[in-house]
Amino acid sequence: MEPKVVVLGSCMIDFSSYAPRLPMPGETLHGYKFIKGYGGKGANQCVAATKLGSATSFIARVGDDIFGEGYISHLKELGVGSTHLKKTPHISSGIAQILVADSGENQIVIVGGANTLLSEDDVYEASQLIKSAPVLVCQFEVPLNTTIKAVQMKRKEGKGISIVNGAPAISNLDPALLESTDIFCVNEPEAELLTGIQVDSIDAAGRAVKNLLKQGCQTAIVTVGSEGAVFSSKGDPSVIHVPTRKVQPLDTTGAGDAFIGALAFYIANHPMLSLEEAIRRSCEIATISVMKTGTQTSFPERHNLPDDLFR
Ligand code: RIB
Ligand code: NA
Repeated sequence: MEPKVVVLGSCMIDFSSYAPRLPMPGETLHGYKFIKGYGGKGANQCVAATKLGSATSFIARVGDDIFGEGYISHLKELGVGSTHLKKTPHISSGIAQILVADSGENQIVIVGGANTLLSEDDVYEASQLIKSAPVLVCQFEVPLNTTIKAVQMKRKEGKGISIVNGAPAISNLDPALLESTDIFCVNEPEAELLTGIQVDSIDAAGRAVKNLLKQGCQTAIVTVGSEGAVFSSKGDPSVIHVPTRKVQPLDTTGAGDAFIGALAFYIANHPMLSLEEAIRRSCEIATISVMKTGTQTSFPERHNLPDDLFR
């Protein structure tokens, strides 16, 4: 099946430890649970779209270690297209050390490994996929020049749209990225770093959205945690706040990825939905994910979801 959602990005092995709270600098805490899982923002987003029922394909690099082997089999089992998933010699797979507190908050350190070698050549090799998919999704866990090349190729030579998740946060973003991005999505701290606007209210999120549009993307979305998301598009003066339902979070790791993967799913597979409705449903998918532990393991599957999310 031709993939509807193509993701170019990272995969990491997540080592998640659960503790009552996050440690202070220099402090050692007793945790009470440990899980090794499949993560990385790119893979998470691709898996989120796959679990909702999209045909997907993933362009990425793993290392030549047992983690890389395991990751490739895992994605194949889920049905993710893996023709451009490469094993890279002499380097480790990407890993993430994750701490989750009882409040649901987390802290993450990533070591990119093979992800840092995803190159412009990899983009050229996958050009057919990148150009023809209804939706291309990228993030900031692989080299920025690789991501820029992919969105430029999509804009200049392809059909469909690009969604870029500006995570993890970077400052001094190359303007070429936003100029070729259709939908750019960030959370509050990421928006703050890119716009200089302190995002501490819905109103401030709206101002950050407008600022991002000025920087060149066609549509900007700022996710505001349990408050949902705020978005606007070029040439449209309205800034829309899409609220979401409040729940008691268990583990918020990967909630942003659930949102992005769902958004890509809806835009590619339900193109008649308004963007506002696609965002509303994507917030619901992210909300469901925070009530379960882990990243990909917490993303819901089509058959467990109410039908009205798929009409
Ligand atoms: O967004 C969550 C992800 O960020 C985790 O899976 C971890 O791998 C880091 O990349
Ligand atoms: Na979760």
